Amino acid sequence: MAKHQLKTQIIYCGDNLEVLKDLPDESVDLIYIDPPFNSNRNYEVFWGDTQEKRAFEDRFGDAAHYIDWMRPRVVELHRVLKKTGSFYYHCDWHASHYVKILLDQIFDFNNFQNEIIWSYRTGGSSQKYWARKHDSILFYTKSDKYTFNSQKEKAYTKSKSRKAGAIDYGGGTAEFFEDEGGVYNWVNARDVWDIPYINSQSKERLGYPTQKPSALLERIIEASSNKGDVVLDAFCGCGTTLVAAQKLGRKWVGIDISPTACRVMAQRLYDNFRLEEDKDFTVANMPRSEGDLRVLPPFEFQNWAVIALGGIPNRVKVGDYGIDGKLYPIEQEREKKEGQSLFGDVDVYYPIQVKQKDKAGRPDIDAFETAIRRDKRRRGYFIAFDFSRDALTEMKRLDKEGEIEIRPITVRELLDKSGFEKAVTWSFPYSLIRAN
Ligand SMILES: C[S@@+](CC[C@H](N)C(=O)[O-])C[C@H]1O[C@@H](n2cnc3c(N)ncnc32)[C@H](O)[C@@H]1O
Repeated sequence: MAKHQLKTQIIYCGDNLEVLKDLPDESVDLIYIDPPFNSNRNYEVFWGDTQEKRAFEDRFGDAAHYIDWMRPRVVELHRVLKKTGSFYYHCDWHASHYVKILLDQIFDFNNFQNEIIWSYRTGGSSQKYWARKHDSILFYTKSDKYTFNSQKEKAYTKSKSRKAGAIDYGGGTAEFFEDEGGVYNWVNARDVWDIPYINSQSKERLGYPTQKPSALLERIIEASSNKGDVVLDAFCGCGTTLVAAQKLGRKWVGIDISPTACRVMAQRLYDNFRLEEDKDFTVANMPRSEGDLRVLPPFEFQNWAVIALGGIPNRVKVGDYGIDGKLYPIEQEREKKEGQSLFGDVDVYYPIQVKQKDKAGRPDIDAFETAIRRDKRRRGYFIAFDFSRDALTEMKRLDKEGEIEIRPITVRELLDKSGFEKAVTWSFPYSLIRAN
């Protein structure tokens, strides 16, 4: 059991089960989690593989497996929560009923406070069943003494044209006021929340399909914590909880297993609040050595490499012959117009190919060359741990021919940042890059 004090303003990159074991007992005021349903595929879930939700053949088996995987994590979360703390578990129809039973066991049935229905309209629907347009957020406390700052919502009372009596909304004692089309008042908010899903036009959108709206997290944090309290999100994705906590003057701790997610969060904290890594907050346990990177799942490795080079990972997986990311020259970045997403709509870029291989070989270079031509580009970057002699010779030959230029970048160079410098200075004579 950890004895040290809780650190805040920190993002831990790692499996939350391991990280949580190291956090002190009863040190956190509020926990929100939004775990991926199928833990085996969390990388795809973070990146929003649309196949994901269709892929369940054995739904009960999946749910049982999911609950087994979640149980030790929820036990740890319960342990780190203060006696006066609150816990919110975000899920949907795939697992919510199983999760309720799990949480009743760990938090106690009597500490269940609400099932919040987050209702939205985005996405498709079916002719065969009611459109599935809500998520469930299960709200528990650790005891019957807890913070709750009740929130208000606007409730319709009567139409302007009718002199109907006030409708009892329960607790609606605030003043009435007129708005377009009727008379309203403020009442205590219900457990059904109409908050729009992040759509493609939304300003806060970063491009991750699992990103939750800030308004949702702000509501939870305002209701269940006070200024200066500690908020923990152990599956924090692109960091919506941390951003909302920061905005509302709470301390925060984030955990995510994906180095990409951790990078995105650090960037988001800078973009929103000009918070600087290593000064205003910490990102702990990021992969720092070739050894760490060799054991990353392939998709994570690709993202790490593309981001380390200063590029933007491709959102759609296009297979081995495709391109894993794009590097936008710095001049282009500057010209990026307001409203364009992080993933840029500008079309001047260099393709990036990544292989988690000890030695990328000649066939890898050939395939990338084809991809570059197909993309109507002339230059590209190839990242691997190392390159075979054949591969280097081929890149040199292409360079001499003068039509296509492929620049090799090693993982070591990315770790010591010289790869990044190489990427931004095309004029650097490529034959000098490597001694062999
Ligand atoms: C549904 S997303 C969370 C999205 C987040 N609420 C937001 O608004 O951005 C789930 C996250 O859990 C992370 N994750 C999955 N398994 C994990 C584990 N064992 N430990 C920590 N994080 C994990 C994934 O990398 C993913 O970013």
